[in-house]
Amino acid sequence: MGKKVARAAKLRTRTLKVKTAGMPRAGYSVLVGSGLIESSFEGLIGKGQKGGKGGGGRALVVVDAKIPRETIEPLIRNLDRAGVRWAAKVVTASEADKSLSTLEATLIEAARLRLERGDLIIAVGGGIVTDLAGFAAGIYRRGVRIVQCPTTLLAMVDAAVGGKTAANLSVPGEDGKAGLLKNAVGVFHQPARVVCDVASLRSLPLRELKSGLAECFKHGLLSGGLGDRALLAWTEKRCDDFLAQSGAALAELVARNVAVKARVVQADEREESTKPDGGRMMLNLGHTFAHAIETLPGLAWKDPAQGVQMVGPLKHGEAVGVGLVCAARVSAALKLCEKGLPARVEALLNRAGLPTRIEGLPASEQIIERMGHDKKVAAGKLRLVLPIKACRTRIRSDVPVKTIAAAIDAVRL
Ligand SMILES: NC(=O)c1ccc[n+]([C@@H]2O[C@H](COP(=O)([O-])OP(=O)(O)OC[C@H]3O[C@@H](n4cnc5c(N)ncnc54)[C@H](O)[C@@H]3O)[C@@H](O)[C@H]2O)c1
Repeated sequence: MGKKVARAAKLRTRTLKVKTAGMPRAGYSVLVGSGLIESSFEGLIGKGQKGGKGGGGRALVVVDAKIPRETIEPLIRNLDRAGVRWAAKVVTASEADKSLSTLEATLIEAARLRLERGDLIIAVGGGIVTDLAGFAAGIYRRGVRIVQCPTTLLAMVDAAVGGKTAANLSVPGEDGKAGLLKNAVGVFHQPARVVCDVASLRSLPLRELKSGLAECFKHGLLSGGLGDRALLAWTEKRCDDFLAQSGAALAELVARNVAVKARVVQADEREESTKPDGGRMMLNLGHTFAHAIETLPGLAWKDPAQGVQMVGPLKHGEAVGVGLVCAARVSAALKLCEKGLPARVEALLNRAGLPTRIEGLPASEQIIERMGHDKKVAAGKLRLVLPIKACRTRIRSDVPVKTIAAAIDAVRL
């Protein structure tokens, strides 16, 4: 499996630009290719660069504990060669560790290294690491530059692009037990550069790769008005190539998905749009359902590709896939999309080995309550992003509870 991505060393590097309010003209670059992490900092710091101050400058490398040596060592060698003083902060990628204490430890590491405003943080890891390191970069000395090197498919096409950063909060509930409030704190902090090195996906477990594919399917369902109407059909056609880890297919997948995400965030950087398609909020397609089920214990489903029985909790992308089915069902019930869309979404998820039917889901009313973040669902209504015709989205706040409940019931095993 790894060989094919390794062969991607010959891939040409694509460069996409993301414009932001702070950088309306130049924006920042997202590089997509292979073998790119090792030179990810070049041109931003090192001998001869502005940040170098005659020396090579300083860089804090925030790295996911599961990144293999062969991915990180070439970067370290190049930092040494460029005369950059560096330190590494290794982070365990779990939602429990995406905490203020890991954030503080990262900031302390930056201070120990005497990182200055002109220096750099380099994040190498999945969305947990890019979110946390991005947060640290956003607040350390009121903001230092960060290069994001996402190493999961999900982080490449989603988390690392757009400037949202975060940590979770552990909040005691009424019962006294601490609950995790996901992404409760964070800042908007745009990266100086994003480097999507598909060779780094070589070591990623297949289940994580599939989880990232669910976010790509989501982009396919909303890209109609964003310059890539053919994305969903193309993704369906090439699905087997992604699972076989073809470097060329993955690089094209990442580049096209980054372009879609970039268009959304450029138009609505801070999620303030009130447009009927939802602006940046359209990226929540499938997520309202997903958030309500992804932390539930005791779920079970069959891996459709291998026939293996899996036991929950679901990974985020797996829950998003189920959420996409529910959203498509609601949309079909309201006649907002093609009749066949729910079946099309299910077929695609099945092909990718992602769950579409779950055993052990609580009663629909309970899930709907969780979808409303445990607040009372006002007059039985929730704000939902729905996929409509021609791969576009609509925000609807008038969906009857029974329609939502029927969509949830349809994903029960
Ligand atoms: N900022 C945003 O806009 C945004 C968007 C979507 C998701 N997120 C956040 O991203 C996080 C999820 O990201 P994720 O799916 O990348 O999960 P993750 O960061 O937890 O990584 C998944 C697993 O893969 C491992 N891993 C990462 N890269 C690897 C590699 N190359 N080889 C081997 N193992 C590797 C990690 O250690 C972890 O066990 C969530 O916390 C979510 O809130 C943020």
